[in-house]
Amino acid sequence: MYRSHSCGQLRLSDKGTTATLSGWVHRRRDHGGVIFIDLRDRFGLTQIVFDPTVNEESWKIADTVRPEYVLTVKGEVRQRIEGQNNKNLDTGEVEVYIDNIQILNKSKTPPFEIDQEKPVGEELRLKYRYLDLRHDRMRDNIELRHKLIKQIRDFLDEDKFLEIETPILIKGTPEGSREYMVPSRLYPGKFFVLPQSPQQLKQLLMISGFDKYFQIARCFRDEDQRGDRQPEFTQLDLEMSFVDEKEVMGINERLLVKLTETLAPDKKIQSTPFPVISWHEAMSRYGSDKPDIRFEMELTDISDVVKDCGFKVFSDTVKAGGVVKALRVEGVADWSRGEIDKLEELAKIHGAKGLAYLVYKEDEIKSPIFKFLGDEITQKITDVTGAKMGDIVFFAADQFTTACEVLGQVRLACGAKLNLIDENVFAYLWVNEFPMFEFEKESGQLTAMHHPFTRPLAEDMDLLDTEPSQARAVAYDVILNGNEIGGGSIRIHEPDLQKKIFEILRISPEDAEMRFGHMLEAFSFGAPPHGGIAWGLDRLIMIFAGEPNIREVIAFPKDQKAKDLTLGAPSELPDKDLKEANIKIIND
Ligand code: AMO
Ligand code: AMP
Repeated sequence: MYRSHSCGQLRLSDKGTTATLSGWVHRRRDHGGVIFIDLRDRFGLTQIVFDPTVNEESWKIADTVRPEYVLTVKGEVRQRIEGQNNKNLDTGEVEVYIDNIQILNKSKTPPFEIDQEKPVGEELRLKYRYLDLRHDRMRDNIELRHKLIKQIRDFLDEDKFLEIETPILIKGTPEGSREYMVPSRLYPGKFFVLPQSPQQLKQLLMISGFDKYFQIARCFRDEDQRGDRQPEFTQLDLEMSFVDEKEVMGINERLLVKLTETLAPDKKIQSTPFPVISWHEAMSRYGSDKPDIRFEMELTDISDVVKDCGFKVFSDTVKAGGVVKALRVEGVADWSRGEIDKLEELAKIHGAKGLAYLVYKEDEIKSPIFKFLGDEITQKITDVTGAKMGDIVFFAADQFTTACEVLGQVRLACGAKLNLIDENVFAYLWVNEFPMFEFEKESGQLTAMHHPFTRPLAEDMDLLDTEPSQARAVAYDVILNGNEIGGGSIRIHEPDLQKKIFEILRISPEDAEMRFGHMLEAFSFGAPPHGGIAWGLDRLIMIFAGEPNIREVIAFPKDQKAKDLTLGAPSELPDKDLKEANIKIIND
């Protein structure tokens, strides 16, 4: 028998009994002939004691063990002597005096220490991920992930959702990223594509009549890596029939509240029901489509005030159809020139042409643009922004989206710099009424902002014929503390409307038939109105765990260059395999 108890199980009430434990040597201390070892397994630590007067043989063996050796030990559970209790351990009132030890396996010296959380390079951590996962913090993250997913399953099961698996080897489904391709051995020159999401399949399941579907779905996107992105990640994917936006939001909200209350009980939800604001309002007020509303500091539009002012950057922008936005930051008039320059640099990284400002200092206003604005306009700006002595007001003049986003970034930087963000708050909100389309930066062509299956807002249907770029969608994102943790929409279920959207996206009828003919046909067999959402589960768990990036909550993540360092992938394949898959490598 390897064990009678786990390493986290023994209590004072077990005093006097015999216990058998198995686990890893976490820490070893030699105290004047008596050896103490903290034995570790997933469930905790137990102090085991080797005393030569209890069992000399075992004590001798214990003298040879090193960190991370795997042991089975047997002995008597005793109460720790007065003053030696360890309050930080569940087993901290007892220790086990060992009279039998077996070394099940030895360990080389690990590449980093397991018994403490010292900073270790991520490359090393990922190469030896199986050792990294021995750390408490990582174990806790993986446990949290399990619990959260289990609660999701229980909750949705209760609400009559069915968990249905959809295939991984499919045809491309557009979600805005490059796709991973899998060559077909049986059909030379043909390929499967790994799903960016189960989008089309879940819609087909609605046409089948399953009504309420969900899946803990693996998605694959060959895109640039960031802290909140992985090439392979997990969604809670969900779809419902005969629902409107409010119903989809409602069930997601109830689930998020439940998860927060049970798994992040120390966090205060800022407001329920979650606020719902339109994309335009979110951009306008917070300069972001995923605003962090844990602090206020809202943007103001001063286009009207400056449209005829003497500062050409402002007036020309407004005349050209752009806007001028202002951000008032309270009580920072003593920020140095260097600090302001840093913010301007940040603004420029996000596409700004500059970051003009007014500093309200000791009854005078300091600013490189004051002389162009003049007293009257400056006074109006002061009035609309509510600026007071001691404040700085920053400005961005540009097209609506750029001007807002630039100040949105400055807002976040100021919020962080001024410690305005309460880490104990979970601020959820919905952003809806996204534009249907956006202009692609390089080609200038319209692309779907969410995906091409998203339904236009009923009142904007006419705009599809006149000004499609102005049409809004029944699309919504759920945001937590400035992170987009999920996004979805009500879908198109009519073949003609779907064809029209493909046309606007300049997908030719032939192309549409080739790529999405199955969807168009399926819509013609009695497709119910339907809609849904997908959460980025890794992102949600990252925030619940208080981690800075999603790699910390994924057992075996890719590194920041999209590589698997644990197994060493991607890697080359033998010529024979390539030949069988009909692949020829062209070396440039
Ligand atoms: P979307 O593309 O918005 O929608 O994705 C939904 C959510 O998935 C998360 N996410 C990611 N997480 C980690 N790494 C990535 N590379 C990554 N990309 C996206 C985000 C995002 O909000 N089929 C639609 C959903 C629907 O319409 O129902 C979809 O996939 O948190
Ligand atoms: P300039 O006259 O170009 O030197 O700009 C004067 C000030 O206006 C500088 O502080 C610039 O950072 C700022 N500025 C220039 N272009 C813009 C713009 N589009 N929006 C906001 N500020 C700008």
